[in-house]
Amino acid sequence: MSEFKIVSGRSNRPLAEKVATALGLSLSGVKIQNFSDGEIWVKYEENVRGVDLFIVQSTHAPSDNLMELLILIDAARRASAKRITAVIPYFSYARQDRKDQPRVSITAKLVANLLTEAGADRVIAMDLHTPQIQGFFDIPLDHLYASTALVKRMHLENLDRLAIASPDVGGVKTARAYATRLDADLVVVDKRRPAHNVAEVMHIIGEVNNKNVIIVDDLIDTGSTFVKCAEALKNKGADRIIGVCTHAVFSGAAIEKINKSDAVSKVFVTDTIPPHWDSPKIEIISIAELLAEAIVRTHENASISSLFEIVR
Ligand code: R5P
Repeated sequence: MSEFKIVSGRSNRPLAEKVATALGLSLSGVKIQNFSDGEIWVKYEENVRGVDLFIVQSTHAPSDNLMELLILIDAARRASAKRITAVIPYFSYARQDRKDQPRVSITAKLVANLLTEAGADRVIAMDLHTPQIQGFFDIPLDHLYASTALVKRMHLENLDRLAIASPDVGGVKTARAYATRLDADLVVVDKRRPAHNVAEVMHIIGEVNNKNVIIVDDLIDTGSTFVKCAEALKNKGADRIIGVCTHAVFSGAAIEKINKSDAVSKVFVTDTIPPHWDSPKIEIISIAELLAEAIVRTHENASISSLFEIVR
């Protein structure tokens, strides 16, 4: 096998280390420092000339994580890496993906442009807010689904009388994939957003009385959508309510809301964003092996479509 190397930015080094360990490698050396005013400085500590380089960096807040990724890519390009793959377990700014009102930005496209302009040759991302974001890139993007790991864990819960709930219409395809794999019914929650980070449940489409329900979402941010959905489902007679989400953004009072809600019994999240919370209700399922498999297959120019199959 020709050479490939993995480096990590500072946003989620524990995940990058797990990925490297799964491949029997160590992370390659890169020094990252801040100047007094906060500006980021990067230097590869080993030769990357001619190397197939994978840079692991989630871009959750602060935006410096995104800037750091761009600088890592730029430095690798200037050091003559043969191919640069940005491995972005959590791709931020993805929710602004269309001009839904006049005079707003499409930040998902902006970030795609920035990554390409910095010198990325490929991207590996996981559970993008909408799959259409792939089309914002003119370089290859491999889109992985955490459901590959999460469904396996859900099987261990041995839930009968099960329904899978999508907290909005946009999530129906993913929820249906879970429902198929877990032999469950599908429920759709009709949600409205009167303002940023405020969610209101309008209707529940489907039967939940006396059922165990798994709410599936790509991310939980303020927890407003998730907790409101859980409470609406509880009011309709749902039994045990579990959340499954890929990206544990958890901003503001999200953790307090989840901890306090009697409707929520447990939440499963992945490690695309490092844990910055403490909750007895939350369990982390690592997606490191999935990323490792995607990296090695990318390096070998092998198919990674079998890693996608869960959401077909
Ligand atoms: C919305 O389309 C997303 O899938 C999430 O449901 C949403 O972004 C979660 O945000 P919050 O936790 O702030 O309600």
